[in-house]
Amino acid sequence: MTETIFLGIESSCDDTAAAVVTGDRRILSSVVSAQADLHADFGGVVPEIAARAHAERLDLVVEQALREAGLGLDALTGIAVTAGPGLIGGVMAGVMCAKGIAAGTGLPLVGVNHLAGHALTPRLTDGIDYPYVMLLVSGGHCQFLRVDGPDAFTRLGGTIDDAPGEAFDKVAKLLALPQPGGPHVETEAAGGNPDRIPLPRPLLDRPGCDMSFSGLKTAVLRARDTLIADQGGLRAADRRDLCAAFQAAVADVLAEKSRRALALSPVLVLAVAGGVAANGPIRAALQDVAARAGARFLAPPLRLCTDNGAMIAWAGIERFRMGHRDDMTLSARPRWPLDQGAAPMLGSGKRGAKA
Ligand code: KG4
Ligand code: ZN
Repeated sequence: MTETIFLGIESSCDDTAAAVVTGDRRILSSVVSAQADLHADFGGVVPEIAARAHAERLDLVVEQALREAGLGLDALTGIAVTAGPGLIGGVMAGVMCAKGIAAGTGLPLVGVNHLAGHALTPRLTDGIDYPYVMLLVSGGHCQFLRVDGPDAFTRLGGTIDDAPGEAFDKVAKLLALPQPGGPHVETEAAGGNPDRIPLPRPLLDRPGCDMSFSGLKTAVLRARDTLIADQGGLRAADRRDLCAAFQAAVADVLAEKSRRALALSPVLVLAVAGGVAANGPIRAALQDVAARAGARFLAPPLRLCTDNGAMIAWAGIERFRMGHRDDMTLSARPRWPLDQGAAPMLGSGKRGAKA
């Protein structure tokens, strides 16, 4: 039997990525070309700029991925591409590129849901079995998924407004810290007192696994303004305490909602993906929840937690093995919920509609 080797293409947000992955979970190459510099002046991703940059870079990134893997197109079994959800122009650029390669080579084409790419990553990195619970926490995503198969996802809950990474970024902005704010807020928080400034734990009083982070950010704004009004300014210690209080609130909410997700759906693994999973205290809180529920805690390496082509290649392999094939009618979908049966989530996040 010949080996399964897939090229994966990702262009749904602000990273142009391509990777070559084998059916036995080896990542032969993974190239990510970030666009952060192009969007830096605008305070968020500009869809038109992103789409143009993807169109310009896709061929180069694909070429580099093949070169680094030491393979030609003739060695591939198939091509997987993110077909949504995400910023429509970027997704279209990726889908067109993948269709072009498929048409030119005759290779099978498999359209992949970007969120499925994230959600299936622990199977690529650690070879875990279904079912498991996945918490996606990034600048654009925030949801709990029970994963039962390559195409079988149940959304247990999600944010009704901002994603946690977005809240970290906005809090950083309020406190004049650089963007992306998460790592800076974490560093400040390390030297702060989480108990001095009381902040809410939104939606903990309501049953279920839905979350809200927008009010928390507003509470930080109010606390900051009160401190400024009372003291005539904000001291370095105030900033550290505000960061510590905010981070503790996010960690508490994610931990309690994770506890509920595991109670609703007892599984052997709690996995996490997305940039916010890089946060030490949040990771520690989730690890603790998993241990108490008798589950293993799994956080893939950060370069595979954030947007990349390897997760798309892997999700493509899983779908391909199920017999899934797309053709030239494959279209880009800006919205594509993983759990087709779940009610749509409110809000869409600063990086565009994600689910
Ligand atoms: O997954 P990601 O790289 O991109 C997408 O959102 O798709 O996540 C980026 C987000 C940003 O909002 C960033 O501030 C946040 O993850 N982040 C963190 C940390 N590192 C990155 N948030 C909290 N603590 C961190 N250490
Ligand atoms: Zn993503």
